[in-house]
Amino acid sequence: MSAPLRILVTKRVFPEAVEFLRRQGFEVDYNGTDRVLDREELIRRARGCAAVVSQLTDRLSAEVIAELEGARIIANVAVGYDNIDVAAATARSIAVTNTPGVLTETTADFAFALLMAAARRVVEAHAFVHSGRWSTWIIDLLAGQDIHGATLGIFGLGRIGAAVARRGRGFGMRILYCDGRAAPPELERELDARRVSREELLRESDFVSLHVPLTPATRHLIGAAELAMMKPTAILINTARGPVVDEAALAEALEKRTIWAAGLDVFEQEPEVHAKLLELPNVVLAPHIASASFATRRRMSMMAAENAAAALGGQRPPNLLNPEVWR
Ligand code: GLV
Repeated sequence: MSAPLRILVTKRVFPEAVEFLRRQGFEVDYNGTDRVLDREELIRRARGCAAVVSQLTDRLSAEVIAELEGARIIANVAVGYDNIDVAAATARSIAVTNTPGVLTETTADFAFALLMAAARRVVEAHAFVHSGRWSTWIIDLLAGQDIHGATLGIFGLGRIGAAVARRGRGFGMRILYCDGRAAPPELERELDARRVSREELLRESDFVSLHVPLTPATRHLIGAAELAMMKPTAILINTARGPVVDEAALAEALEKRTIWAAGLDVFEQEPEVHAKLLELPNVVLAPHIASASFATRRRMSMMAAENAAAALGGQRPPNLLNPEVWR
């Protein structure tokens, strides 16, 4: 009997994913902690594994991938995969998969939660009540921006962008979007969404929400020049990837009130946050949790495990990002 195939699960996932892999007969090297494996440990433990179930905190650079002797698949527990050099994996015939679809609605819920919290100053209000400074009803106490009837500008009208736009429609918002590709006409009709230039979106929108993947083209998509185009009452929401925004420029814009507020779930150097952002009252901060409902994170864990198991069983993994390796 041949030895079971080995799989490295780099970090803690929902336990049913590991149980599933073991039930399929794989030998699982499971780092069941929240500690990120450093480069050396990742390479050492991945060596000889047929699959690596990775997370967005694992840097699978070309150099690391070059060391993955025997790997057939990297199954990322995330929809984003900017942590993986997919071209390097493809060159070594390693399949790469992600977890699209299952987190769309959960992530859109959270983008909207940030939008509402920033517009209506929910976090400031909570802190204010806790502080004991509430003495009476005051005409403009913690006044914010209206959401209903406002213009929502979406960068990237993919699955999550469209789900955020749908929520906006529910609030009677006008939808603008900017995307390299026009959305299908039926989606534009459903959302009553108009495709506009980057500049028009920035100038017209009361809320700007980012839903693009991180690529060389989207790095610092929002910098000082873009922030300067936005309305002084505008609110920026980022649930995409931190480096899509120039964080230093954003901190300065929030401090100077070039824009009014921001809601951020992602940061340029996670888990570090620009010092100024930690002090400003007009920003709502979250630790990269937009997809973090129990059901969705469980589903993401399982999806990555299913992708790995499929590939090792000779089946095309359902969420294959580099079909070139599967001929
Ligand atoms: C989370 O950020 C993801 O890409 O799934």
